[in-house]
Amino acid sequence: MQQHNVLILDFGSQYTQLIARRVRELNIYCEIHPYNKIPENLENFKAVILSGSPSSVRSEQAPHPDLSEIRGKKPLLAVCYGAQYLAHFSDGLVAPSNTREYGRANLSFIKNEEVFFKDISEGSQVWMSHSDTIKELPKNGVLLASTNDVKNAAYKIEGETTFAIQFHPEVYHSTDGTQLLKNFLIDIAEVNQNWTPNSFVESTINNLKETVGDDKVILGLSGGVDSTVAGVLLHKAIGENLHCIFVNNGLLRKNEYESVLKQYEGMGLNVKGVDASQRFLTALAGISDPETKRKAIGRVFIEVFDDEASKVQNAKWLAQGTIYPDVIESVSVNGGPSATIKSHHNVGGLPDFMKLKVVEPLRMIFKDEVRRVGKSMGIDKELLGRHPFPGPGLAIRILGDITSEKVRILQEVDAVFINGLKEHGLYDSVWQAGAILLPVNSVGVMGDERTYEKVVALRAVESTDGMTADWVNLPYEFLQKISNSIINNVKGVNRVVYDISSKPPATIEWE
Ligand code: XMP
Repeated sequence: MQQHNVLILDFGSQYTQLIARRVRELNIYCEIHPYNKIPENLENFKAVILSGSPSSVRSEQAPHPDLSEIRGKKPLLAVCYGAQYLAHFSDGLVAPSNTREYGRANLSFIKNEEVFFKDISEGSQVWMSHSDTIKELPKNGVLLASTNDVKNAAYKIEGETTFAIQFHPEVYHSTDGTQLLKNFLIDIAEVNQNWTPNSFVESTINNLKETVGDDKVILGLSGGVDSTVAGVLLHKAIGENLHCIFVNNGLLRKNEYESVLKQYEGMGLNVKGVDASQRFLTALAGISDPETKRKAIGRVFIEVFDDEASKVQNAKWLAQGTIYPDVIESVSVNGGPSATIKSHHNVGGLPDFMKLKVVEPLRMIFKDEVRRVGKSMGIDKELLGRHPFPGPGLAIRILGDITSEKVRILQEVDAVFINGLKEHGLYDSVWQAGAILLPVNSVGVMGDERTYEKVVALRAVESTDGMTADWVNLPYEFLQKISNSIINNVKGVNRVVYDISSKPPATIEWE
């Protein structure tokens, strides 16, 4: 069955990615494109969704794209700003709302639109978030549903397959939102539901074979989910022509370098382990400033990687584990990556060295899809379920300057904490966890001896994407056990604290 593609035109809403997530959950392939870069190959898209926007259609600076190649020619669903946009430019009227229209509302059907509202009940909860409202429908508009505060909550255009809704079907609080997207995409637009991990693996392998041919490809593995899944896909496509490099920066978790390397070898990957711990530690000596640390690590990583990569004769490609949210962000309506709060060195990519072409097998999929793809290729469950771990590793969890002794202490503490989470069945319910070595000593007493040793903080957060996060309410008994175990087993630590700050305003990492 042919794979259909859905186009999501992004007007800059914070929820645009969520629309894509919901569509993909229906096993339908979709792509987000900014409103000012409508793809030329529109024939490849079976249906179009217009997103919301923080702008007001009445403003001259607001997104006002020419939709003449889409409107009336393809099934179209306009969400929030999209719905207002259609009204504003087709003889309707959009004006500021008199009442605040944020949050929950309930649908009342005005017209019995059987297919569009299939399996959605009268009174269904929807989520509103807008400050303008549609006072008059566009030409040929037919009112389908209202809510208490919003008369024109859903409408269609007579004579077209165009539907418009003022609420956000993509957010969790719109209880039947996914059903509505399904009704529109499957029953109205007749889009195929054949976007699955297996179909992705098959088509990606074919594409990689075609793109890369007999060329050699270099890939930096990090032990994380994205680079591993990218590696396995490439390995399936080009076998031994994939040359993987796994660098030990000396700032990984305890025994991680050895165990991950072994796992990679077990998976049949052509991988070269490079232990550059000493080189990193030397470069970091005496540096306390977080950003300077990150830059030093980034620089040494590139040097080490460059050294190793240049040993691979005739390499033509550099593979990267870039995933879709990074791509969306870099081409976003707002003109690129949001303000740098911390310089995540691996997001900037590698410099233009060796003139390698870049291949990114995961650039069109989301994190949860990366995991599903990994699972469908038989990658170990434990590896796929690993918590995210920052590129600079423990360096940004050792506050102040870094020494090999501090790395050792933190590795021990971290291992007690992470193993404890696993043993108590808590690891999978936590999004990310780790320990932080604080740059203070505190007084303690062990036996009859006064001690003056290090303090460590434990951090465990729940999150979906790391953008916002909340601390996890770990059971007291668990924290008590871990604290005892750390103080009794890790020499140099006499106090353990637990971080109870959410993000924002705190960040997940302390540096
Ligand atoms: P923050 O501390 O910004 O972290 O709330 C959000 C997520 O990003 C990870 N992180 C990094 N990842 N290089 C990385 O590869 C970095 O420099 C870096 N700093 C933070 C962090 O572990 C969390 O998952």
